[in-house]
Amino acid sequence: MKKYIFLSIILFIGFSCKGNEPDPTPKPPENNITSLKQAPFPIGAAVNVDALKNDNEYRQLLIDEVTSVTPENAMKMYALSSGRGVYTWDDADYLVNFALENNMRVHGHTLIWYHSNGWWIENTFSGTKEEWIAVMREYIQDVVTHFKSKVTAWDVVNEAFNDDGTYRPSIWYDNIGEEYIELAFRFAHEADPDAVLFYNDYGQEYSFNKIQAINTMVDTLLAKNVPIHGIGLQMHMNINSSETKINYAVNSARNLIVHISELDVSVNTENNPDATFNDELAQLQKNVYKYATEAMLNVNEDLRYGITFWGITDKYSWRSSAPDWVLPFDADFNKKPAYDGMLEVFNQ
Ligand code: XIL
Repeated sequence: MKKYIFLSIILFIGFSCKGNEPDPTPKPPENNITSLKQAPFPIGAAVNVDALKNDNEYRQLLIDEVTSVTPENAMKMYALSSGRGVYTWDDADYLVNFALENNMRVHGHTLIWYHSNGWWIENTFSGTKEEWIAVMREYIQDVVTHFKSKVTAWDVVNEAFNDDGTYRPSIWYDNIGEEYIELAFRFAHEADPDAVLFYNDYGQEYSFNKIQAINTMVDTLLAKNVPIHGIGLQMHMNINSSETKINYAVNSARNLIVHISELDVSVNTENNPDATFNDELAQLQKNVYKYATEAMLNVNEDLRYGITFWGITDKYSWRSSAPDWVLPFDADFNKKPAYDGMLEVFNQ
């Protein structure tokens, strides 16, 4: 009997050990990603709707590479509204449908921006403070309601501060006062309580005054229970942008959700009309893309909204005053070192 028990134990140990033998087909480490679509947070692009309609290669690149889209211009006030209560949704709807068909998140940009008001409101509207508040409410709520349940989040207010931290003049600031910001967030939230609401601005990576102004505003809004959930850092940078300052800027969003919302990195810093792109510049650019990626990766998982490029290919970029190569894909849709740099960050 003892002999059988002994044998059973030996057999049992034998089988258990076999179960622990290494799997002969090695699997790649879990973090060995080969496409930005596999990144641990959404990677997005600002989308040019004309190109989306007319350039199949561009369309396919977006499908292959991004999980989030922001309309570059199609949801700006001048693009959506040609008069009070008069709307043209076609381009914005086209983009939203494209995104949803391809399982992409849609980031709404932007409800209130001094630079993109409709012509009619800049030039034909006048009224008391209450009338300005009413027209702002109407606009925000019409737009947010139209895209409700399709658009995940909104840049509710864009670029409210100057670089020195003072409020930037605009029809909204001039007619309503700084309260316009608080009201814009409340109105957007009323129209879609599920939407994630962002304040978006540029220059946090070089202007400490702007960071302070934003933080003071956010603290004041939160103390009044204003529904503000996230901070967008545009990060239109160049090859000299500092890693320390990029980190500082991303961390300055503190306990709100963080979005690097318009990333691009200029290599032609002097706007030289005869500039050309070369390997050395590509490497410097790659470094800055890596800094931004690392900074976002270090954000607490719950607060990482992701990184959106302002475009995707150098074929279509808003930085066109001089030749430049600001995006992670070149004009022929090939990956640049910047792209590989981001993968390196995720795979390290
Ligand atoms: C830019 C677009 O890329 C251009 O096509 C347009 O002519 C002007 O606006 N900050 C923003 C974006 O929040 O909306 C801007 O987009 C770039 C700067």
